[in-house]
Amino acid sequence: MSESQLWDDVDAYFRAHLSSDDEVLRAALRDSEAAGLPPIAVTAAQGKLLRLLAEIQGARTVLEIGTLGGYSTIWMARALPADGRLVSLEYSARHAEVAVRNIARAGLEQIVEVRVGPALESLPKLADENPAPFDLVFIDADKAGTARYVEWALRLTSTGSLIVVDNVVRGGRVLDADGADPDVRGIRDAVELIGRHPRLSGTAVQTVGGKGYDGFALARVLA
Ligand code: SAH
Ligand code: DHB
Ligand code: MG
Repeated sequence: MSESQLWDDVDAYFRAHLSSDDEVLRAALRDSEAAGLPPIAVTAAQGKLLRLLAEIQGARTVLEIGTLGGYSTIWMARALPADGRLVSLEYSARHAEVAVRNIARAGLEQIVEVRVGPALESLPKLADENPAPFDLVFIDADKAGTARYVEWALRLTSTGSLIVVDNVVRGGRVLDADGADPDVRGIRDAVELIGRHPRLSGTAVQTVGGKGYDGFALARVLA
C-alpha cells in the first residue's frame, strides 16, 4: 500500500468514528462538485477541528476568508450560538451562490453572511463597520494574499482571538525560499509574520490524509 493510500484510509477511519459529518455536509460537497467547484474544501476531520476550535474559543463571531461552497463555513457556524455571526468573504460570485444554497440547507442563513468580492476590498469595508472583534478567523483564500489577511485579521480581532491559516505546507513547497511562486511567498510571509509579531503566539501543525501533505498555522492574539 502506498503511503498516501494509507493516509487516506486512516482519514476515512477517523472520519467514520470522530468527524460526525452528516447528510447536510455531504450534500454541500456533492452540490459543490456538481456545480464544478474545485474539490479543495477542508476534509471532514479538518472541518471538525475547526468546529472544536470555535467551541474551545467560546466563539460568538467568526470571520472566514475563502468560502468556496461553504463546507468549512457550515462546520464553524455550527459552533456558534443562535445569535452568533459568521462573515465569509468569497471572490467568486459563482462559488458564493453555491455556498449560500448549502448554508441555507444547513439552516444557518441567520448566522452566516457571504460577501462577494476580492477579500482585500471586502476587509476594509468590514473594518469600517466597526464590527465586534472576531473570536476566530479562518484564512483559506488565495495563498498569495495570506500574509495580508493575517494583518487584517489582527485589526479585526482582540486579545484571545484565534487565527487559523490553511495550506501552510502544500506538499513541502513552503520550503521553496527562492521567492518565485507568489503563493509560496504569501504563505512564508504569513508564517514569518506570525513568528515575529509581538501580538501573536503561533505554531503550525503538519497534516496528511484526504488532502495530501499540508498543514495549518494557528496563532493566538495576545494583548
Ligand atoms: N474554506 C473553503 C475552501 C476555500 S477554497 C472550505 O474549506 O470549504 C479558496 C476560495 O478562496 C475559493 O472559493 C476562491 O474563489 C476564493 N478566493 C480566491 N481568491 C480570493 C480573494 N482574493 N478574495 C476572496 N476569496 C478568494
Ligand atoms: C488549493 C486551495 C486550498 O485552499 C486548499 O485547501 C487546497 C488547494 C489550491 O488552490 O490548489
Ligand atoms: Mg484550503
